[in-house]
Amino acid sequence: MLQSLEQEMINDKSLPLKTNLIFGEGNIDTPILFIGEAPGATEDQLKRPFVGRGGQLLNNLIASSGWKREDFYITNIVKRRPPDNRDPLPEEIESYKPYLSKQIKIINPKIIVTLGRFAMNYFLPLAKITRDQGKIFKVGDKLVVPMLHPAAALRSTDMKKQLEKSFKKLPLLLAKADELLKKPKNADEKGVNPPDLSSQKKLF
Ligand code: URA
Repeated sequence: MLQSLEQEMINDKSLPLKTNLIFGEGNIDTPILFIGEAPGATEDQLKRPFVGRGGQLLNNLIASSGWKREDFYITNIVKRRPPDNRDPLPEEIESYKPYLSKQIKIINPKIIVTLGRFAMNYFLPLAKITRDQGKIFKVGDKLVVPMLHPAAALRSTDMKKQLEKSFKKLPLLLAKADELLKKPKNADEKGVNPPDLSSQKKLF
């Protein structure tokens, strides 16, 4: 099913950006889906997501939790490289959205980790990356954890520490994911006063 979705994207000539399509890779039965913003130059060259310096950091973070990159699925909201690594434009994000949403439906992870503000705002339009990174939200039937983009963490020791700290939450979150997802939508969570992020509920 993922393969036919990828083919559908290749055939869709209305999609913006004309570089290689970097659909995503990894374990299709993944409990955690990592979503970045858009491929960079190395990703475009190798036709794989997160294989540059940011990808190396992501691999290290995954390994520090005792996992392997191959345990998970990794993709981006925009699946072609914007020129000169500029931020993806709102209309580019919009055009790629229906495909990401189908991809998520097929993979059906319990947890989605967004890397950077663009991927975060796809799920949590009102969230702010500096305020909300590392928090855990319930969005529909998924747990969504916004995290800083690895590229930002490579530029700042403080951001790297924050990203590492957020990552450390993942093993326990994964262990508790079923329990957390079972809770009724409006159940009070221990010790939490969720900020009003429209319909998105912060868990802890
Ligand atoms: N940055 C992203 O957001 N995605 C990649 O695949 C690589 C770098």
